[in-house]
Amino acid sequence: MIVIANWKMNKNKTEVNLFMNEFSNKLNQIETLSLNKKNILFSPSFPFLSELQSSYSDKFSFVAQNCSHHKYGAYTGEVSVDMIKSININYVMIGHSERRIYFGESSEILIKKINLCLDNDITPIVCFGESIEERKSNNHLDAIKNQLNIVPLNNQNKLILAYEPIWSIGTGLVPSVNEIKEVHSFVKSFINAPILYGGSLNNKNCDEIFNIHEVDGGLVGGASLEPDSFISIITKANEIFKNSIKDVD
Ligand code: PGA
Repeated sequence: MIVIANWKMNKNKTEVNLFMNEFSNKLNQIETLSLNKKNILFSPSFPFLSELQSSYSDKFSFVAQNCSHHKYGAYTGEVSVDMIKSININYVMIGHSERRIYFGESSEILIKKINLCLDNDITPIVCFGESIEERKSNNHLDAIKNQLNIVPLNNQNKLILAYEPIWSIGTGLVPSVNEIKEVHSFVKSFINAPILYGGSLNNKNCDEIFNIHEVDGGLVGGASLEPDSFISIITKANEIFKNSIKDVD
């Protein structure tokens, strides 16, 4: 059971610190907290990863939002997997649709990133999901199967997947329980990895979504930006998964 806060390009240093103080104080007030650092993950922007990892590594895990597909060298502005590993970060998000669409990341590039992560003992969190056109034309499963060609099947147990329909991200639109079930069951039929759901997940709909048997957790964008909102998602996740925690290592 995994819940990840994806902060994207939000929060400066002051805002990050305010959030973390308030969030950890409130988390301490939850009685019978079964979730731990394997289950609660934060993905802040690069400048804050190292400090957060040093201050909070006993309570939470941290995820880099991206990495370079090059190992090292003359690539101004890029951050290598080796650099990420050297600050003890063990997760990198790969292939978020915002990266595929706005930064033109192809399957070829994503495969390189996944392989670099695996070579460095970093767990890639591989995002996938169909467009609205693919959903409307009932081609969503084919589109998903295609996107997931980047997953190395010999290392499938070293990955985490996140199903994020593009039309649901930041829109307030959420697939039905049956639609989520269909995709997660389909992917689980050929890849053996935990699958998170992401896309307009919030404290009102997470109950229903986390209760879907094939959903192993959530990737939360907008609703992870305020401590109270993220705490109530964590509280629900804690209740639901109390007796069925799934490890992610
Ligand atoms: P959202 O973003 O929760 O704001 O829809 C999710 C994501 O893109 O990871």
